[in-house]
Amino acid sequence: MPPLDTSMHLDMLARWRQKNSFTRRAIRTIRAGFPLPLYGLEWGDPDVVEPLRFIKERYVLPYVNAQHDAVEIGPGGGRWTRYLLGFRTLTAVDYHPELLDELKRNFGSHRNLRFIKNSGTDFPGLDPRSIDYVYSFGTFVHLDFNLIEAYLKSIRTIIKPTANVVIQYSDKTKIMAQINEGFSDNTPARMRAAVDAAGYRILEEDTTSLWHSSVIRFAI
Ligand SMILES: C[S@@+](CC[C@H](N)C(=O)[O-])C[C@H]1O[C@@H](n2cnc3c(N)ncnc32)[C@H](O)[C@@H]1O
Repeated sequence: MPPLDTSMHLDMLARWRQKNSFTRRAIRTIRAGFPLPLYGLEWGDPDVVEPLRFIKERYVLPYVNAQHDAVEIGPGGGRWTRYLLGFRTLTAVDYHPELLDELKRNFGSHRNLRFIKNSGTDFPGLDPRSIDYVYSFGTFVHLDFNLIEAYLKSIRTIIKPTANVVIQYSDKTKIMAQINEGFSDNTPARMRAAVDAAGYRILEEDTTSLWHSSVIRFAI
């Protein structure tokens, strides 16, 4: 499993940038007439790929509220950030400043979007009990289980009693997670137990839509 200081995320970004320099993207855009691709769309576009579209429509869009404040953990290039911009504030929290820079390049003009570089499991600068919605996709699938447990503890400190937390995590009961060495050692049973032990109520789970992972929604 990748440790916190893994170079995996920076390597993936570097490989993508090599194939997608601004000039190359601009040429492709002019030729094909579509918008500049975001880093991350190569893992599936939630506007196009059916299971991701389902996750977006079930676990993301219904919660977007202009009177609410949200946090996205591990936003990458902003594949999911795009759908969260309707919150009053959206705080993008990432361990890698390089990834926050990539997000800024794509969405830096949005005045309600804030960027926080963290130490791996914390939320520096966020007030206690201030957040209505937490979302993370493509990030917990790679986190060692002790980091997931630490995140569950620290998420609890920043959310309101009415908040919803939606996390997608690695599901090693599925073959596509088993063959991916970058996916952490997790299952719905293990995740449920950790969420429960951290003092949350599980509200909803999806263990069937995604091919290598599962999704859980919970609250205090
Ligand atoms: C594979 S990318 C997924 C990006 C995006 N959520 C998506 O689905 O396209 C993983 C993201 O998590 C970030 N990340 C890795 N470890 C993290 C941690 N401990 N806390 C917060 N972000 C982390 C990486 O820098 C990167 O932005």
